[in-house]
Amino acid sequence: MVSMDKLVSLCKRRGFIFQSSEIYGGLNGCWDYGPLGVELKRNIKAAWWDDMIRHHDQTIAPSGAPSAFHMVGLDSAIVMNPEVWNASGHIDGFNDPMVDCRETKTRYRADQLVVFRMVPETPEPDGLKSESPLFASPGETDITSDEDLIAPHRKRIKSLTRQGGEHRLERVSDALLDDDLRARVLVPGAGKPGTLTAPRAFNLMFKTYVGALEDKSSAAYLRPETAQGIFVNFKNVCDTARVKIPFGIGQIGKAFRNEINPRNFTFRSREFEQMEIEFFCRANDAADWYRYWRERRFQWYINLGLSSDKLRLREHDENELAHYAAACADVEYEFPFGTSELEGIANRTDYDLRQHADYSGKDLRYFDDQEPEKDLRRYLPYVIEPSAGTDRAALAFLCDAFNEDDIGGELRTVLKIHPRLAPIKAAVFPLVKKDGMPERALTLFRELRMQFNSYYDEKGAIGRRYRRQDEVGTPFCITVDGDTLLDDTVTLRERDSCEQTRLPASEVNSFIRERVGC
Ligand code: GAP
Repeated sequence: MVSMDKLVSLCKRRGFIFQSSEIYGGLNGCWDYGPLGVELKRNIKAAWWDDMIRHHDQTIAPSGAPSAFHMVGLDSAIVMNPEVWNASGHIDGFNDPMVDCRETKTRYRADQLVVFRMVPETPEPDGLKSESPLFASPGETDITSDEDLIAPHRKRIKSLTRQGGEHRLERVSDALLDDDLRARVLVPGAGKPGTLTAPRAFNLMFKTYVGALEDKSSAAYLRPETAQGIFVNFKNVCDTARVKIPFGIGQIGKAFRNEINPRNFTFRSREFEQMEIEFFCRANDAADWYRYWRERRFQWYINLGLSSDKLRLREHDENELAHYAAACADVEYEFPFGTSELEGIANRTDYDLRQHADYSGKDLRYFDDQEPEKDLRRYLPYVIEPSAGTDRAALAFLCDAFNEDDIGGELRTVLKIHPRLAPIKAAVFPLVKKDGMPERALTLFRELRMQFNSYYDEKGAIGRRYRRQDEVGTPFCITVDGDTLLDDTVTLRERDSCEQTRLPASEVNSFIRERVGC
């Protein structure tokens, strides 16, 4: 598996992802996508939009799935009337518990501080005292390894071991909620234990002001999810798009969360993009539609080349479910830093539409003219929500594609990314910079770039040019050589197999189009 260090370095070196506002020292939790990163992200979003919204009934869906339903799109505003967030519960409930270290001035998410205690292996008279410090480190509790968590405290633990004999380290639960235990907690960089404040609720929404006044009446929020923009437009879409239940509304857009501890490259960012569907159906059919979307979304990642042995669909336990959810499952991917969520699929019942109907005073019930029972024709539909993160998907595709293999005794770095997602689809090279080869190669390049993002390169040995394209995942390289000038054939080399095929230049376009799937 690729190390995060190698991946981050490739992303920067080749222009996939940069630290945001890097020349000013960056901004934690914010990232900029460079020339190749932006192509990758656009391809992911286009694949999602095409497969889920525009051609949703032509793509490979789970067997026996119904296809006769509508999917439409939406692009709602990022800043909305703040009542939206009152109704959705985000103003009161979108909180993380936060603790501050008074000494180092570092802020932590209390539920992501993992605390260890030292347990003597053999009780000895001069063994470790029961009040020896508890060691805390920030990490996503289920995905960060114990070794990484203990690393900042290793020196101190070693010295205590010398004094107190053999011991093992054991995770302690709830240490931060209990005042007595918190007094013994030592965080990285602090000189003594007990520097943490009691946990406080910290709202994750970014606040701003709309208009010239900066007072309570003009406060507004950057949306923390795109979903609410769909719910508040439910009636507009029903009234204008001639959709009939069951149907879905999809949206792709930015979301903002003031995460206390952004981490793991782009995995947990403060500004990110979501690809969300709200699928409206009858309450009685919601369980079936939930299963349908759960499988369809899982299959989508596999169809785009993510290794199935690194993906899993995890159904939430009842005690994990939000109070309004009837069911929820996560699509999880095995990242180099641990297995974690790519996307959540939830049965949100009629909670959101009911909340918005109550808070806005508007009747958001759907009129179902297919319902035989007259009294049951007006109702609030249930909602199945597949909610994916574009940045997390991009990170998973990059991690999965990164390979180092041996080609004729030479190590090469290659991104074996699905051709549909590859930032550059085709690179065109003249074998040498003379005899009319650059001119013929440029004509071909100009033809191809009308269809696909393509690249022209005439610098350096041909092998070096192939390696440069392998590293950024270009699936096809086309070389114009001496024979091209005689019979207009070219050599097409495939990235993964390195196989070379000779074909007429006029067929290159359709050859690539077939494989890229556009
Ligand atoms: N409307 C439901 C919702 O927003 P969520 O689980 O909070 O659910 C959905 O977010 C997806 O958005 C996640 O599965 C993840 O892919 C992405 N996401 C959430 N927070 C993120 C963050 N801080 N950085 C990057 N992606 C994030």
